[in-house]
Amino acid sequence: MLKKHIVLVLLVIIFSSMFIYYFSKVPELNNAKINLLDKILQDPNEFVLRYVQIPLDYSYGSNSIPLVISALITNGNLVELGMGSFSTPLLHKISSDYNRQLVSIDTNQDWINRFIIYNTTKNHRLYFYHDFNNFQQKFDTKFSKLGLVLVDHIYAGLRPIHAKYFANNTEIVIVHDAEKRSDTFYLYEKNNNIRAFFKYACKFSLYQNFEKTSYISTLILSNFIDLTILERIFKSVKSDFGHVACDLSF
Ligand SMILES: *[C@@H]1O[C@H](CO)[C@@H](O)[C@H](O)[C@H]1NC(C)=O
Ligand SMILES: *[C@@H]1O[C@H](CO)[C@@H](O)[C@H](O)[C@H]1NC(C)=O
Repeated sequence: MLKKHIVLVLLVIIFSSMFIYYFSKVPELNNAKINLLDKILQDPNEFVLRYVQIPLDYSYGSNSIPLVISALITNGNLVELGMGSFSTPLLHKISSDYNRQLVSIDTNQDWINRFIIYNTTKNHRLYFYHDFNNFQQKFDTKFSKLGLVLVDHIYAGLRPIHAKYFANNTEIVIVHDAEKRSDTFYLYEKNNNIRAFFKYACKFSLYQNFEKTSYISTLILSNFIDLTILERIFKSVKSDFGHVACDLSF
């Protein structure tokens, strides 16, 4: 009889603590994210300037604004396929500020060497790959659910394939150099129809000169987050020569 009571009491304790844990933990996380989103909406330039150096770089760094905002609105770990003088320090700082794991991968030993000191920090790991052969095997063993993947490596033809690979397990996938005139090279749309693999898409296009005669686009894709939020944020962000917030026709 006594045994039965003890078991019952234990069960009540276990279930009530699970209940308390669930209802205290989950809304807390969500609230933190909602608060952050509110702050970004109120003052998006402050968040951009925290991670992007000015003057803004209008070529290799043309994905910096969408990268900062997209990383901040996701929760999971960060992956960078192809390192760069703008994206790597930017993502490193976000991973450190928000205590999120970041993995940077490159097939060029010079890029790895340039940033190797990051590999000594708590949240950031660098990996050198000889190539992306058997990439599925390489990624499968390393990644489960992710927050953000940036696909920005030099294997143009593999970029759309890698972006699709992460479609179902990553909150946001970003591909760089997605402007229409470069599609003959990267084949995001031609041959691969990348847009069809994601529920939501936003293409951010940054003008490179005052005359607005050229621009570079960054395509942001998601099956998990309604990206109209990005349009709102990008519309209130400032850039020197202007940009188009979210328009797939660019
Ligand atoms: C970074 O550190 C991890 C383990 O901490 C190691 O496996 C990896 O090889 C290191 N990366 C490089 C490029 O040395
Ligand atoms: C993602 O999941 C959907 C639905 O389960 C499936 O149809 C699609 O093929 C998957 N995409 C990829 C790239 O794995």
